[in-house]
Amino acid sequence: MSPEGLRHGPGLKFSIREGLCIEHKPQPCGLVLFGTSGDLAARKILPALQGLGAQGLLPERFFVLGLGRAPVDEAALRRQAPGVKGLYYLRGDYGAAATYQDLGRRLKELSARHGTSGNVIFYLALPPDLFHPVTHKLGAAGLLDEPTRAWTRVVFEKPFGRDLTSALSLAAEIRDHLKERQVYRMDHYLGKDTVQNVLMFRFANSIFEPVWKRTYIDHVQISVLEAEGVGHRAGYYDRSGVLRDMFQNHMLQLLALVAMEPPSSFAAERVRDEKIKVFKALKPIDPAQPGRGLVLGQYSGYRSEPGVAAASAAPTYAAMRVEIENWRWEGVPFYLRSGKRLAGRAAEIAVVFKKVPHSMFRELSPDHLEANTLVFRIQPDEGVSLTIEAKKPGPKTCIGALTMDFDYAEAFGEHPPEAYQRLLLDVMLGDQTLFPREDALEETWSFIQPWLDADLPLSPYAPGSFGPAEADALLEAEGRAWRQP
Ligand SMILES: NC(=O)c1ccc[n+]([C@@H]2O[C@H](COP(=O)([O-])OP(=O)(O)OC[C@H]3O[C@@H](n4cnc5c(N)ncnc54)[C@H](OP(=O)(O)O)[C@@H]3O)[C@@H](O)[C@H]2O)c1
Repeated sequence: MSPEGLRHGPGLKFSIREGLCIEHKPQPCGLVLFGTSGDLAARKILPALQGLGAQGLLPERFFVLGLGRAPVDEAALRRQAPGVKGLYYLRGDYGAAATYQDLGRRLKELSARHGTSGNVIFYLALPPDLFHPVTHKLGAAGLLDEPTRAWTRVVFEKPFGRDLTSALSLAAEIRDHLKERQVYRMDHYLGKDTVQNVLMFRFANSIFEPVWKRTYIDHVQISVLEAEGVGHRAGYYDRSGVLRDMFQNHMLQLLALVAMEPPSSFAAERVRDEKIKVFKALKPIDPAQPGRGLVLGQYSGYRSEPGVAAASAAPTYAAMRVEIENWRWEGVPFYLRSGKRLAGRAAEIAVVFKKVPHSMFRELSPDHLEANTLVFRIQPDEGVSLTIEAKKPGPKTCIGALTMDFDYAEAFGEHPPEAYQRLLLDVMLGDQTLFPREDALEETWSFIQPWLDADLPLSPYAPGSFGPAEADALLEAEGRAWRQP
């Protein structure tokens, strides 16, 4: 143990032993950024490239070619990411065949100049309506073919379709031009260190897995709560709503990490195979059933937000009860909730264990004792905590709940990096472990679709609250309550 690895937290002392890192260096490549003038490029992609460059994690031979309709000044672009050595811009209309011919010529020239051997990543940071036509045009121009001894990869941003039919149609278009190993679908939640930590926690330790099942776990709560409203993305959000925006992708991906069986290796296909088994085991829902297990809400004032339709029926909140039909999880409900304009910003996975079956303290029934709860805090204050019952100091027999808390920043002396850094590096490395596979889309859309088709009522909730009262009732009906993170 290195002495500098010892750190002290309030009421807690913990040590970190130098860990082992699995490090790979990406091969030389070029990255074509469609939608360079957009919000995502400015807020996430260029800063992530800058971060990777500053840490020396970009390939030694590398360039970025921005692309879009807008006139973009190359010098200004370089100032946004000074750590990226070759940064260029090509102006063109996504609908014009000439753009793709220009792109092909420019790529050849830059590939030769930077010695990137023809390896190229196309990053489609574009409105989703353009995924289909741009993939088609790239394919028609021959830009998606893999030259001998070089690779071509394409990154798609979410949303991957807006329902099952459109997701399947996009998947078919992609399949016409690309092999699955060339396709990277961004789900930035999977790039967060604390989310990946669920896998490390479960499968790099031997003490948790034996209790990770219906015998010991009472239920699981997955919450992604946002304090902000729709902001500048109102146009997109109002057409999507929270089920498409959060549940089909992030929420079900988080659930899969908690519920999956141990993969035989931390390899893309093995991890993704196990997730698919979880999605296939989700108990199908019938929205017509009373107590159907879904509450949809919309915050008061949403319809007056700029960019939102006056009679909008978009849900800004959902709480869902999900069951997984297999031996491990039979009878264990997974409660998922996510929404906007809530009391605070917090994302966490809470695994709530069963209470003790019998209390040896005569005055205390098992109900007086709190259930052990293991919480993975995804944001903010990333970390892991475990509540246990402990004796309070003193001559009397007093028991109280104690929280053992591991704070990521405090323990490691730094905040976890932006998810986009990790995911972009994985694209360059050709590691698809953290990217949803095509069959995951089909399974998750199939699960969500009946909810989208049903005309369910929207429960209003006050901005700054924890969501509609009906969401509380969903758990109260089963003798449980939402945690207030
Ligand atoms: N922004 C986020 O926080 C966020 C988060 C998660 C996922 N995403 C996804 O990431 C992708 C990009 O998001 P974004 O917020 O960066 O989008 P955006 O700013 O609306 O658009 C990106 C770029 O696409 C081009 N564009 C926009 N509308 C177009 C149209 N009708 N026809 C042709 N080109 C058009 C524009 O570039 P030019 O005018 O220069 O061509 C624009 O700068 C989307 O699929 C989005 O769903 C975004």
